[in-house]
Amino acid sequence: MGRLDDRVALITGAAMGIGRACAERLASEGAKVVITDIEDHTGQETAAAFRAKGYTANFIQQDVTSEGQWQSVLADIDRLHGRLDILVNNAGIAIRKSIFEMTMDEYQLQNSINLDGVFMGLKYGIPMIAKTEGGSVINLSSVAGLKASPGLSAYAMTKGGVRLLSKSVAKECIAEGIKVRVNSVHPGIIQTAIWDKMGVPTDGENQVDVEQLATNAVPGGLLGKPTDIADGVLFLASDESRYVNGSELVIDHAISA
Ligand SMILES: NC(=O)c1ccc[n+]([C@@H]2O[C@H](COP(=O)([O-])OP(=O)(O)OC[C@H]3O[C@@H](n4cnc5c(N)ncnc54)[C@H](O)[C@@H]3O)[C@@H](O)[C@H]2O)c1
Repeated sequence: MGRLDDRVALITGAAMGIGRACAERLASEGAKVVITDIEDHTGQETAAAFRAKGYTANFIQQDVTSEGQWQSVLADIDRLHGRLDILVNNAGIAIRKSIFEMTMDEYQLQNSINLDGVFMGLKYGIPMIAKTEGGSVINLSSVAGLKASPGLSAYAMTKGGVRLLSKSVAKECIAEGIKVRVNSVHPGIIQTAIWDKMGVPTDGENQVDVEQLATNAVPGGLLGKPTDIADGVLFLASDESRYVNGSELVIDHAISA
């Protein structure tokens, strides 16, 4: 308890899934959490549920693809708490189509959320975090950012991009004397709504059976939970990882091993 007392954390895409679990884990260690999401109603409910547990939690609606909204969210956090220590760039989508089936609109939408959103989070978030005594940015990549993912090629491209963006910005911060660490997290197959939202183009079946997928793809067949990722994010957010920078934390039960 108390590993993040007095810290302020912004978690994007935190109305549900991995982002929600990360926000709850950080709050449970004393962080004041600001959760943002494009989904207003669910985001408000999530923040209210956290407050009912005694946590300090606010929700701000945010589309991570909007530059103006990044600036206004950070200004709101400054007004609310006067500081930012931790940023979890979590918001993301996965469009399950091969390169031959994906339209350019789908490709650009996925890039704008998964890549542009993270880029702007780093660009605008780090200068605010740098005003504190030092902080941590954690970017959600994927096992798909480490190895080929046929059927998810454009998604894999975004997640590979997040991995190298994280490492490069970590070194840019060091070069500029900015005391902000930047790391990426690489989940394997985690049970969240992302699997229900994936469109399958040709066979008419929209559902991905995530339990079956885990049985087939994960050594031992073990399906991950959002809290498995949240525990790793907590480590990277806390001072226990002070020497972990420009690194990648793989939480995939040996998929990529
Ligand atoms: N679930 C997995 O198996 C898995 C594996 C590897 C990586 N990831 C990554 O983890 C992150 C979280 O995924 P999840 O599984 O919790 O998905 P999820 O669909 O459950 O949650 C994603 C959240 O992002 C929000 N969001 C979508 N577009 C947004 C936008 N433009 N602006 C702001 N918020 C937006 C959604 O409303 C949702 O609340 C993603 O970056 C995903 O790529 C997930």
